[in-house]
Amino acid sequence: MNRRTWLIIVAIVVVLTFGFGFRLYNMGRDISAENGGQTRSSGVATIGGPFNLVDQNGKARTEQDFRGDYMLIYFGYTYCPDVCPTELQAMSNAMDILPADVAKKVQPIFVSVDPERDTVAAMADYVPHFHPRMLGLTGTLEQTSAAARAYRVYYSKAFEEGEPKDSDTYLVDHSSFIYLMGPNGAYIRHFNYGETPEKIAEGIEKVVANQG
Ligand code: NI
Repeated sequence: MNRRTWLIIVAIVVVLTFGFGFRLYNMGRDISAENGGQTRSSGVATIGGPFNLVDQNGKARTEQDFRGDYMLIYFGYTYCPDVCPTELQAMSNAMDILPADVAKKVQPIFVSVDPERDTVAAMADYVPHFHPRMLGLTGTLEQTSAAARAYRVYYSKAFEEGEPKDSDTYLVDHSSFIYLMGPNGAYIRHFNYGETPEKIAEGIEKVVANQG
């Protein structure tokens, strides 16, 4: 390959890398701007909203089922090699760190962004590895994309070079935030990727202590 081709490839990689990083950075800033914001000014997009999904036991679930409880909610996919397992484990450990009276008010939820592979059966195999109370929600492609859109979750199938588009071993790039939603369903705050279980538990406890 000649030098010119090489430079073009390097330029493309740089643009893609920074473009993606900048997008995630802005996504983080958008969300941070709302941090702690039960009150929202107009023009600031909200996080959360209605969803129609199915849990790992095959039971239909909407956001209304969780009114009165806090939802600790994370979007990802069961084939995820590292990010999702790390975050789901952090959520689960945080649940175990919480005092029992606080933990019982919190429903940990995992929502698939890859429903084509994350069937109800796949979710039933997967979520119990993390926490006995964790619910794994999936649905049709339309249902899970609507839920992801409501939570402003970014995700995109990522095929390796030369990997056929009908391959079932693709990865899914996705944003990684753990959202804490209030008993009325409104966004309260989020936890960034890599937050420790202790910090997550501390953050939840503080909110519950203030709001009951
Ligand atoms: Ni993941």
